[in-house]
Amino acid sequence: MKRILIAIDGPAGSGKSTTAKLVARRLGYVYVDTGAMYRAMTFKVLASGIDPADESAAVKLATETRISLVDGGELKVILDGVDVTEAIRSEEVTKNVSLVSSYTAVRELMVEKQREIDSGKGCVVDGRDIGTVVFPNADLKIYMVADIAERARRRQEELSGTGVDLPVQQVVQELKERDFKDSTRETSPLRKADDAIEIDTTNLTIDEQVEIILNYAREIAVGHEEMQRK
Ligand code: CDP
Repeated sequence: MKRILIAIDGPAGSGKSTTAKLVARRLGYVYVDTGAMYRAMTFKVLASGIDPADESAAVKLATETRISLVDGGELKVILDGVDVTEAIRSEEVTKNVSLVSSYTAVRELMVEKQREIDSGKGCVVDGRDIGTVVFPNADLKIYMVADIAERARRRQEELSGTGVDLPVQQVVQELKERDFKDSTRETSPLRKADDAIEIDTTNLTIDEQVEIILNYAREIAVGHEEMQRK
């Protein structure tokens, strides 16, 4: 079947990354977690002792940075040759990532890198601006949403799995702050592309979300095949 490009956007905790990863596995596609790139950049800003509010210093650092995603079963994030897959999930990075990723020049560098993806191989790309800015011609665009209480519950559970226990109110607050920053920034804010399919995952299981997307993907891939045959 023809290999397509699937863009999945949405706010934090809506289930994007887990779903995107599984959809990619089921289709034998590459999974691209663009949030991990912004997280890696933020990790480097913090590790370099730069104030994340210092835009010009952060941008200069971004021009001297190499970030790559290696999808060999489990996605690995490599920053200047070093594996930072786990380090980029820290609370400190999560708190600062929306600020660093609001810088236009940082985004331009990341988007340039994201567009190098060979979409002919079939890929699932998740983020905030994939369907709107990075790949406006994506074959399938999904916009995932979920109630804030459910998103906070998921995030709390995920954190707890890494040994970090936070009160739910704090998780809600952090999610709201990040959503606000992501959707009100000037450059490529988080928003649903006009032609994206919205999926509310509040009451869906991961398997259900994956199946819904796989069904759309198969429909589109078959459609492309038929067009080519005509
Ligand atoms: O925590 P979660 O997995 O939901 O977020 P993420 O996908 O790891 O993304 C972390 C942050 O990176 C987001 O809150 C955005 O500020 C930023 N981001 C972005 O600006 N554009 C993208 N395409 C992906 C992420």
